[in-house]
Amino acid sequence: MPAKESVVICPARNLLGSIRVPGDKSISHRYAMLAALAAGRSRFENYSPGGDCNSTLGCMRALGCAIEREESGAVVIDGIGPQLHAPGSALDCGNSGSTMRMLSGIVAAQLFISDLIGDESLSRRPMKRVMEPLRKMGAEIFANGDCAPLRISGGGLRGIEYQVPVASAQVKTCLLFAGLLAEGRTIVEEPIRTRDHGELALRAFGAEVARSGNSVSIMGGQALHPLDAFIPGDSSSAAFFLCAAAIFPESNLVIDGVLLNPTRSALLDVLTAMGSRISVLNIEEQHGELVGTISLTPGKSRPVEISGAQTALLIDELPVLAATAPFGAGLVVRDAGELRVKESDRLTAVTRNLEAMGAQVEQTANGWRIPGGQKLHGAEIESFGDHRIAMAFAIAALRAEGDTLVHNSECVAISYPSFFGDLEKLLDR
Ligand code: S3P
Repeated sequence: MPAKESVVICPARNLLGSIRVPGDKSISHRYAMLAALAAGRSRFENYSPGGDCNSTLGCMRALGCAIEREESGAVVIDGIGPQLHAPGSALDCGNSGSTMRMLSGIVAAQLFISDLIGDESLSRRPMKRVMEPLRKMGAEIFANGDCAPLRISGGGLRGIEYQVPVASAQVKTCLLFAGLLAEGRTIVEEPIRTRDHGELALRAFGAEVARSGNSVSIMGGQALHPLDAFIPGDSSSAAFFLCAAAIFPESNLVIDGVLLNPTRSALLDVLTAMGSRISVLNIEEQHGELVGTISLTPGKSRPVEISGAQTALLIDELPVLAATAPFGAGLVVRDAGELRVKESDRLTAVTRNLEAMGAQVEQTANGWRIPGGQKLHGAEIESFGDHRIAMAFAIAALRAEGDTLVHNSECVAISYPSFFGDLEKLLDR
């Protein structure tokens, strides 16, 4: 655990320039897990430098893979095929819900017992959503109620047809990974279409995955081949700079090499609806994922309402959209109950911090109503140890009057260790 730190954010006059953001967290996790299951050497440039993706690497090492990080940051993984090695100790997922949930699908198919542990925050997060379907597939799982630590006694999985009750890409991916290692076909139906990196990654490693409407299916027993790939910039990290640029009338921001997967780029639609002018250039496809350059200049603010399927697609970007909403023309968010079970209760964390900065905000059962045209003042911000809350309020602080102190700011290292340095380079003070 890094020592607790606090960062002072001073108001800025403008945000200008171009930047690249670190590799996408969702893709990095999936590539590392599948590389372990592919016999042979995979290499990933721009693998996420964050603590969460490092937790995944630690777990894959514990399951028998040799993994090295080159000086360039590239990660090289010597995969061992579908049968991993029994770990000598518990698999430590740290703060990472993605690691625990997706890895559960892999270890549930292994002929040994795995213990999955996490930090205090992860040990409070719901795991029944993966335990129930994995039990149906034949795994034996013991847990602390709905939560970690998990003890998974795996092997002999059978494919199932399963309707996922919550919109969760982690659960979908967990079941597709389990399905790859199970006997027969696994069909996963999701209530709302969520990010599709699991499907795309499986295909990139050579598996066949079929989609029909909101159902995805995979046949067990397919062999994976290794993959060399450049991981696109994380669109949820880019979101902080895009929202920052949107609140300065004279800003001009370019983000290169960023993920443009349509299940991850709903923020571009929302910022456009809010009045920003956004262009997308140089689009390329890399292993099924779209990558390109985004440029943003602000325009006249308009109010926006977000609900239903759009809320699910924006789940990681909602904290920064909400934290910067008082500077726009108003924001209403509905159907965001899942925010309560993220690294912190993000609905409450955003409300409390907006109130600390003097904003008017109404927290509803599953969202917020945030009037626009407000002035905020500097304040002491509590990150609740949650990387996205710390970064969201560092952005809001740029347009506040007076300095802001973000407590426990070290948690940004979970997804974006160089966040504060990168932000500073774009600011005109
Ligand atoms: C993720 C899915 C989302 C998201 C998380 C990453 C993924 O979680 O919030 O940051 O990589 O699949 P849920 O599946 O719980 O919605």
